[in-house]
Amino acid sequence: MVKIAPSILSADFCNLARELSRIRTADWVHVDVMDGAFVPNLTVGVPVVKSIRSHTDMELDIHLMIDKPVRYIKAFAQAGADLLSVHLEADHPTGIARALDLMEECGVRKAVALRPITAAQAVLPYLERLDMVLVMTVEPGFGGQPFLERQLDTIGQVRRLIDQYNPACQLEVDGGINPVTARKVVQAGANVLVAGSSVYGAPDIELAIAALREGAEG
Ligand code: DX5
Ligand code: ZN
Repeated sequence: MVKIAPSILSADFCNLARELSRIRTADWVHVDVMDGAFVPNLTVGVPVVKSIRSHTDMELDIHLMIDKPVRYIKAFAQAGADLLSVHLEADHPTGIARALDLMEECGVRKAVALRPITAAQAVLPYLERLDMVLVMTVEPGFGGQPFLERQLDTIGQVRRLIDQYNPACQLEVDGGINPVTARKVVQAGANVLVAGSSVYGAPDIELAIAALREGAEG
């Protein structure tokens, strides 16, 4: 079954407890951590993740858009992350492998994320040990951008690699997801959908989450 992971990037940061309670009918909470270096935007860090943890029992899916994420794996794990995604472009392969080792040591699920420029095959050195691959469907950094149709190819390629090498691995997509693009990405092979503006920008959040599920499940 497809999972819906609203991104709190589009929520009201002054009212996070309320904003979390508004997405109870979703599956995961997606938190975008940005450092102003790997991406040209700054968002939240470890203390905010810790506060979010104390206000929800939903799965915490933490998307690290930071350089050399290996430096912060333990801190985010201790703050209550269930799953951490590190970008393949954010460090040398040894740094990425070390970050995955640390996630394993901390008992956190492990994911790697791909910018639109990165080829699907880049996941291969890590795929057998991953719980999830995150394919970006916009350039990371900001919510509210249009979906990049050409990423459907990358999603399809990653799906084929997952089916071949690690069928239990999940495939998440992030950026420009609404009920129309939800259908396309699920047809291409995704099974976890991040959505920021199409959830928090909607007049009725429960309806927006239901519409994403309907779109996804055709
Ligand atoms: C962008 C973030 C996304 C963002 C998605 O860098 O990774 O999670 O919140 O927002 P929408 O759904 O509005 O494209
Ligand atoms: Zn994200």
